[in-house]
Amino acid sequence: AGTTMLLGKRVVITSGGTREPLDPVRFLGNRSSGKQGVALARAAAAAGAEVELVAAHMDVAPPEGVKTTRVETALQLRTATLEASARADVVIMAAAVADFRPAEAAETKIKKRDDAADPVITLVRNPDILQEIVQVRRDSGTGPALIVGFAAETGDSSSDVLGYARQKLARKGCDLLVLNQVGRDLVFGQDQTAISILDNSGADPQVATGSKDTVARTIIERVAAELVS
Ligand code: C5P
Repeated sequence: AGTTMLLGKRVVITSGGTREPLDPVRFLGNRSSGKQGVALARAAAAAGAEVELVAAHMDVAPPEGVKTTRVETALQLRTATLEASARADVVIMAAAVADFRPAEAAETKIKKRDDAADPVITLVRNPDILQEIVQVRRDSGTGPALIVGFAAETGDSSSDVLGYARQKLARKGCDLLVLNQVGRDLVFGQDQTAISILDNSGADPQVATGSKDTVARTIIERVAAELVS
């Protein structure tokens, strides 16, 4: 059922996993399915928002009726997201963005040769897009009212993971951070998930479990609540 929680609000959501080319046929990628980002886009649209989805590689189709920009690499995701963010009320960075990319992509397929040394891949840092969006808002004094980051953390104890997430929230400078614990079979590609939403108040995180659609609705309700508070 639709609501009007986000009526008239422009919400940019990034989704999926970037692919960083090694040559015309190979890439470095990650296991992000795009399911959580698509669920968020659906939930935001159902809440009345005007949604723009910036989608890297996904195992699922983008939701119907949502404006979608397809991208491949972190640099392409950066261009599309910075552009869309300039006119957004809310930015939700659910995409798994590669932290590194191959320093060079070969123009032709890398060949194996018996007479040459095995190739070595040199990686360079990708820009942190989330940090950049926060920085643009800081520098310009205007921009999205709410910037939401995601953190997929592996850790042995939930207190470790929460500690990492708090550090990440502070480092990124965003308003909310959605934490999910990954590893083994958890989260990536799964339909069930468990998340914690952290803010900068130091309050205990808001916890939600269930399908990615259920969790997405909780996140969108929280976003709407933050916008009016
Ligand atoms: O640092 P880490 O990759 O764990 O941070 C995750 C959050 O930062 C996610 O919201 C992700 O979309 C965003 N991110 C980004 N640019 C990068 C790497 C991550 O915006 N280069």
